[in-house]
Formats: sequence, structure tokens, C-alpha cells
Amino acid sequence: MPDIEQPTEDTNAAVWKTDVGVTFWKSTEADRERRRAGHRELLAELLPFGPDEAFTFADLGAGTGAASRTVLDHFPLAHAVLADFSPQMMAQGMLELAPYQGRYTYVEFDLTRAGDWPAGIPAPVDAVISSLAVHHLNDGRKQTLFAEVLRQLAPGGWFLNYDPVQPPDAVVEEAWLRAGDRRDPSAADKRAHRTAEEQFRYDNHVRYMVPLDQQVGYLREAGLEGVDVYWKELDYVIYGGRRPRRPL
Ligand SMILES: C[S@@+](CC[C@H](N)C(=O)[O-])C[C@H]1O[C@@H](n2cnc3c(N)ncnc32)[C@H](O)[C@@H]1O
Repeated sequence: MPDIEQPTEDTNAAVWKTDVGVTFWKSTEADRERRRAGHRELLAELLPFGPDEAFTFADLGAGTGAASRTVLDHFPLAHAVLADFSPQMMAQGMLELAPYQGRYTYVEFDLTRAGDWPAGIPAPVDAVISSLAVHHLNDGRKQTLFAEVLRQLAPGGWFLNYDPVQPPDAVVEEAWLRAGDRRDPSAADKRAHRTAEEQFRYDNHVRYMVPLDQQVGYLREAGLEGVDVYWKELDYVIYGGRRPRRPL
């Protein structure tokens, strides 16, 4: 069993629960989102709903709602419950979600805390997604969170996670860097000359990141079925599975 008492000491709060953190996130968003648009589309396309079906999904670590917006665009009758622990990200998200008024709610949820989910997330919920957030949780918490996802999902409900992963070894890491540096010739220089602030952010970013196989294993151990890596490019992946239709 994972150690759910594992301390939740958290440089994450220093990154995300600050105006500076949100301003930085916004300032780097346009280029990032251009690259990610297709990945987010695929996550939406993997959900098993028709365009005229009403359903509710939870978005864990939803931030300003980039992943939720893509799902809401794909499914006109969907309702999003965006869960996050940062008042600053949620305030910014409410501005950006203005065109979706009535189709979303925000709930405060510190994902480091194991146990019951906030009352604002329906139980059962039709689907759970997460984007660029699970890598901020330590390994014990990833495992307990996946068990909670299974418990919260409706029978047959899907969980999909879009996230960066660690390379499993140095040879793979070298290959990822080689390809990444060809695409962005300034990347190697940026890596070598991080400011103290950038280094803090980077350390926070990779601190709990683990290889893909491990995480896929956690999903299977939690009891999801149809577990697969549905998309992967270098260090970014979409993995997921669904709650079996039979009783647990
Ligand atoms: C990299 S951003 C991703 C935001 C959004 N999901 C997206 O794809 O653009 C990470 C988000 O995870 C949230 N987060 C980090 N740690 C968290 C925690 N312990 N509990 C809840 N949310 C957390 C941050 O506040 C932030 O909104």
C-alpha cells in the first residue's frame, strides 16, 4: 500500500498560489498552447460521449481551464467541474471561462490530500480528466488518487491524464533532449543558464515526475481497465483507462 501519510511539503504552493506564478504561466501560454492544442483535442476525442449527450466531468488541477475548454467545445452539453487549489489560477480561469457561463463550476481541491473529494464533484462523475497536474504529486499520492478516481467514476467512466513523464534511463533522456533541441535550438542554452527563479520552477516541475511505465502500473493496480498510453511524444503522454462496468 502507498504511504498516504507521506509528508506533503509543497514548493508547488509557492509556484501556483501566487500572483507572480500565474502571471508567469500566462506570459508563456500562447506558444505552449499552440503546441498543445492537438494533444488536448485527442484527449477530448477519447471520451466516449456523443455530441448530443449531457454529462459531467471533473478536471483535476484544472488551472485556468485549458483542458476543460477543449472538452466543452467538443461536447456542447457537457458540464465541467474544475478542481484546483490555487485561488489565483481559479480567478484567472473564471475570466477565461466567461463564454462558458453556466457550463462549469470551480471547486477548491488540494490534490495532495487523500480522502473524500469535495462535495462539488458529483459522485459518481461521468469522466475525470487531468492535464499537467498529476506530475506535481508524490508517488504515494498518485497511487491513492488513482484509487479515488476509480471510486468516484460512474461504471464505465473514463479517466484520462495528459502529463509529462521522466525518461526511464539516460539513453532515453539523451534521445529526448536531442530531438527536443533540434526543434528548439535555444533550448540547450536556456537549460544551461537558468535564473534562480527558473531553476526553482524547474525543480518543482520535475520533483515528483516518474517514468511512464510506473504510472500506467499504478492505474492497473487501482483497478481501471482499458489502460493504455493513448498518445506519446518524447516526454509528453496521454494515458488512461476506465472504471469497469461490473461492480467493484
Ligand atoms: C501546469 S498547471 C496546468 C493547468 C491546466 N490543467 C492546464 O492544462 O493548463 C498545474 C495546475 O495544477 C494545480 N495544482 C498544483 N498542485 C496542486 C494541488 N496540490 N492541488 C490542486 N491543484 C494543484 C496548479 O494550481 C495549476 O493550476
